[in-house]
Amino acid sequence: MIDVATVDGPAGAGKSVVTRALADRLGLEYLNTGAMYRAIALKALREGVDLHDESALAELTRRTRLESNDGRTFMDGEDVTDAVRANEVSLNVRYPANAPSVRENLVEQQRRIGMSKPIITEGRDQGTVVFPDARCKFYLTATPEERARRRLGELEARGETADFQEILRQIIDRDRSDSERDVGPLREPEDAVRILSDGMSIQEVVDAMERIVRSRLTIFNARSPEESRRHS
Ligand code: DC
Repeated sequence: MIDVATVDGPAGAGKSVVTRALADRLGLEYLNTGAMYRAIALKALREGVDLHDESALAELTRRTRLESNDGRTFMDGEDVTDAVRANEVSLNVRYPANAPSVRENLVEQQRRIGMSKPIITEGRDQGTVVFPDARCKFYLTATPEERARRRLGELEARGETADFQEILRQIIDRDRSDSERDVGPLREPEDAVRILSDGMSIQEVVDAMERIVRSRLTIFNARSPEESRRHS
């Protein structure tokens, strides 16, 4: 077992905001693996690489250095945390995410990061494919209607108008694309703690998860040498 906590779940369930808050509270490194797929899409768009050409995407991935520091994502040394949230990237990220050779490369990089320090990592396949031996796994979800309501609220807060039914349709469409992928599809790990966040505040979700992470990761439960002898 390795000292990693994983958070998987569908788009719009609040994974990023919750995982970041949890990492801050616990002093763990936060790894946003969606941002890594987004960074590859961003670079492909900038370089005009054909997103339908899997071998070109794989080659681009091999020559890209991705790093995560303090919850921020760096691509070839550039902080791309905000740039990867652009709508154009969201619309095209499915191409690298669906490319098996890109996934293979990024999964290896994620494992390397997880082996080097205690992390809390967020994505779609973290508890199933990347860290099947993680000590602590969560599946954070919310109904499509709840996620659509939250998204509508965010857009309205930014002064944008949007149609609830259209947002709901996009969410259902993304869920399908994420779950039907041949490699690394979104699946609920059998041994994950499932949190359905409908009607819960961010604070309530983070509180519930904090208790579980503290009880499971060894860095929070290191026994004194004397205790270890007593339990062995
Ligand atoms: O969580 P997000 O919206 O930033 O993820 C961006 C895309 O990357 C989304 O289409 C799902 C995909 N993804 C993935 O395939 N595997 C992961 N571990 C994380 C994200």
